[in-house]
Amino acid sequence: PRVVVLISGNGSNLQALIDAQSYDELGGEIVAVVSNKADAYGLKRARDAGIEAVALPHQEYESREAYDGALIKVIERHEPDLIALAGFMRILTPIFVQRFFGRLLNIHPSLLPAYQGLNTHARALADGAREHGASVHFVTEELDGGPVALQAVVNIAADDTEATLKEKVQAREHLIYPIAVRWFLEGRLQLVGDDVTFDDTPL
Ligand code: GRF
Repeated sequence: PRVVVLISGNGSNLQALIDAQSYDELGGEIVAVVSNKADAYGLKRARDAGIEAVALPHQEYESREAYDGALIKVIERHEPDLIALAGFMRILTPIFVQRFFGRLLNIHPSLLPAYQGLNTHARALADGAREHGASVHFVTEELDGGPVALQAVVNIAADDTEATLKEKVQAREHLIYPIAVRWFLEGRLQLVGDDVTFDDTPL
């Protein structure tokens, strides 16, 4: 199975997927990485791993629809079974989401449905939350609103700061994203209607 990963920045989650692939634990192959930012460090991670790295800067398109049309073309050239969003910081149009519906996963730094959107760590701390974490979810037209596939919880300590909390959550992201991708590629995790279904037959 073939995976295209979309990024905008550092690409530490991309790296976790690349590492899983190198240990034969991804269940498929990352065939391309696409970034809307030409200077994203994740593009270098892709090249270093011998993966095709594509910069598709959004500034060069006059509308969201035009950009997403171009993005669809690039993605479809690679015939992916799965498109994994890994820190891709753009809102996708309904046309994009519909085109790949059921084949789009995202990683989000909160225990969804809590803290959709940005600045999740600061908001959890400001609320005095006791727990925080990371979620892998299917992408639907509702931003950060699609059904959750897998979550990891971290406890918030009294002395946690935004930076320490982010670090703890990211460590969990790097653990759960490769697992969710593998389950999806093995057909054990699916979006059926509005719900996630698991084939939980023991391996
Ligand atoms: C991660 O925290 C992810 O949850 C969010 O964006 C961040 C991307 O980090 N969607 P990286 O580029 O994978 O290091």
